[in-house]
Amino acid sequence: MPLLSNVRVDIGRLMARIETLGEIGALSGGGVCRLALTPEDGAGRDLVTGWMRELGLDVSVDRIGNVWGIRPGKADGAPVLLGSHIDTVATGGLYDGALGVLAGLEVIACLNDADIETEYPIAVAFFTNEEGSRFAPDMMGSAVHQGSLALEEALVVVGIDGSKVGEELEAIGYAGEVALATLSPSAFVELHVEQGPVLEREDIRIGAVTGVQGISWTEYTLTGVSNHAGTTPMAFRCDAGLVAAEAIVAARKAAGEIGGTQVATVGALTLEPNLVNVVPEKAVFTVDLRNTEEDALKRAEAQVAEAIHEAAGAEGVTVTSRRLARFEPVEFDARVISLVERCAKDRALSVRRMPSGAGHDAQMFAPYCPTAMIFVPSRDGLSHNIHEYTAPDQIEAGAQVLLDVTLALASPDAGTKP
Ligand code: GLV
Ligand code: MN
Ligand code: MN
Repeated sequence: MPLLSNVRVDIGRLMARIETLGEIGALSGGGVCRLALTPEDGAGRDLVTGWMRELGLDVSVDRIGNVWGIRPGKADGAPVLLGSHIDTVATGGLYDGALGVLAGLEVIACLNDADIETEYPIAVAFFTNEEGSRFAPDMMGSAVHQGSLALEEALVVVGIDGSKVGEELEAIGYAGEVALATLSPSAFVELHVEQGPVLEREDIRIGAVTGVQGISWTEYTLTGVSNHAGTTPMAFRCDAGLVAAEAIVAARKAAGEIGGTQVATVGALTLEPNLVNVVPEKAVFTVDLRNTEEDALKRAEAQVAEAIHEAAGAEGVTVTSRRLARFEPVEFDARVISLVERCAKDRALSVRRMPSGAGHDAQMFAPYCPTAMIFVPSRDGLSHNIHEYTAPDQIEAGAQVLLDVTLALASPDAGTKP
């Protein structure tokens, strides 16, 4: 496929935007904390929305706070969508999410500078609460946009700090007016850091992402009896902390036994009363299970739940649980995956196909429009970590592929040969 233009991304401009956004919610040791819908997220949104306007995009905010900026094409019609999220986990890096949004703006800036009018419109969006750390489920804004989560249900979700999605959206000024179904893309391409070790280990520049593994999040609450740590004989205890510990081990064991792509994490755990000399009465913890195969994921869920109930029964502890998030594995569009590969090769960039281990907004669009993702390497495979890092030349390569893919998808013959 001949390259559709010789326009090159300006890596200096893109890095400056990444670094400027990274100053909002910056942590003292590096990295960033912009949990969804906090004042920091609000300030990040203001900054990025300002850039969208400076680039001449027509900006709108929908009712779950997703922000869209649209650049018109020669023809009316559904836009090619680029984007990701700008919220972070509490110990986030500068690239997870921000890269896909700001590289989208870089694509727009390049087209503006080169005076290129595409056949179809191009939209850059950032979606509310992709991370799900403060409010579950993750991918909330894109799920609501695509109709797999009801707006009314999302707005009343209570976060880890007792706050409510709807109220926090109002507080930061992003409870938008635009109806959710108004903006419907013809295709979606999300550039993202890999957040794992594969590309770096194999010295490959670009990942052509084939799909996203299934995700299962459950919160368990265990209730036992608090009692004196010195006077309560071991046989008389109903120790919720012990059962939580057994759950952590059971999750690791299930991942080992199921094998393949199965991963399992207990990432949040609180004990009550959490005192040195009191047997814990209550334990609340989360289990995150992921697999590219739905059947195997279901087995992992069943195995971990059974182990928890068994351990609780033996200790005289009661168990309740609630589902925080559940997404089946998603496959991306074969033609857009091939397009990513071809664009990478045309720029002499090494490329491999790979699934995504992390959840992404793109997975919410995949059932409805041709969708794919572009990955760039993550140093030491680190992400959700303040030391997350991708070098500027790697970011430049990914953004260039994003630009080339976008031009192909927004060209007059996009419908016939991406
Ligand atoms: C969200 O980004 C996740 O994969 O946990
Ligand atoms: Mn992300
Ligand atoms: Mn993330």
